[in-house]
Amino acid sequence: MVKIEFRDVRLAFGPKVVLDSVSFCVEQGEMKVILGQSGSGKSTILRLILGLLKPDAGQILISGEEISQLDEDELNRIRQKMSIVFQEGALFDSLSVYDNIAYRPHELGWPEDKIERRVQEVLEFAQLSGVAEELPDSLSGGTQRLVAIARAIVDNPEIILFDEPTVGLDPPTAHKLCQAAIRLRDIEAATSMFVTHRLSDVRYLASNYAVKTSDGRTELRAEDKTLCLVNTKFIVINEGKVVFDGTDEQLWEAEDQFLREFTHDDEDL
Ligand SMILES: Nc1ncnc2c1ncn2[C@@H]1O[C@H](COP(=O)(O)OP(=O)(O)OP(=O)(O)O)[C@@H](O)[C@H]1O
Ligand SMILES: [Mg+2]
Repeated sequence: MVKIEFRDVRLAFGPKVVLDSVSFCVEQGEMKVILGQSGSGKSTILRLILGLLKPDAGQILISGEEISQLDEDELNRIRQKMSIVFQEGALFDSLSVYDNIAYRPHELGWPEDKIERRVQEVLEFAQLSGVAEELPDSLSGGTQRLVAIARAIVDNPEIILFDEPTVGLDPPTAHKLCQAAIRLRDIEAATSMFVTHRLSDVRYLASNYAVKTSDGRTELRAEDKTLCLVNTKFIVINEGKVVFDGTDEQLWEAEDQFLREFTHDDEDL
């Protein structure tokens, strides 16, 4: 089932055309990684999905429903199913990690035992069990971002949008964050879009997967030659167009000059 679809979406800010006939699909349970230079319209795509911007032309479908003509009440109903993770976690400073994560379930009026079960689950998920009682200020920036992810996923959103969540993180913390996204993809079958500039994220997301072991633990494994992840796809945006839509193997082998410059850069994109 297609979860997110853009059909010939066009959006300009004044004379500047940011998206020019952009089309792509994200299947249920798939992670779509969006690559593109600064200013190419990646965050704009996420804001369109959230209904914070409306396209000038074209259609945006979420679970088959066209959202660009919906009013604010109807959009709020759609937004309930989504979560976004930015670089800035914006946690509540006076609340512990546990209470930050439990905030939304309390707001939704969940029974206390259900809240506790689910918060424990996402704490483990984001590898945060050791810091549940800490205040955000006492944690590193990277750990705060993991808390923001835990908070974003606690009410089981169907769609999770990541907007450059690894910017400024050291490689081990960036990997931890990618691992949380991978677990969501492979264990919870969430649909996600992951915007990043870092080729190392691209490689990690495309070559690692999570499985549940027979004793109920989640294990991360690296892809080997016998296996190819089918639930992770890539799009590259350049000058308002989707210039690539496919798998990481296809991306590394692309002949196009722009894509080659992109994929052969040793540093961040
Ligand atoms: N509200 C706005 N009004 C006018 N121009 C805007 C607005 N929002 C974005 N833009 C412009 O649209 C273009 C795309 O912006 P966007 O933030 O989507 O880029 P991006 O790919 O996310 O870049 P980055 O990698 O730097 O985050 C940029 O040129 C930006 O200046
Ligand atoms: Mg952006």
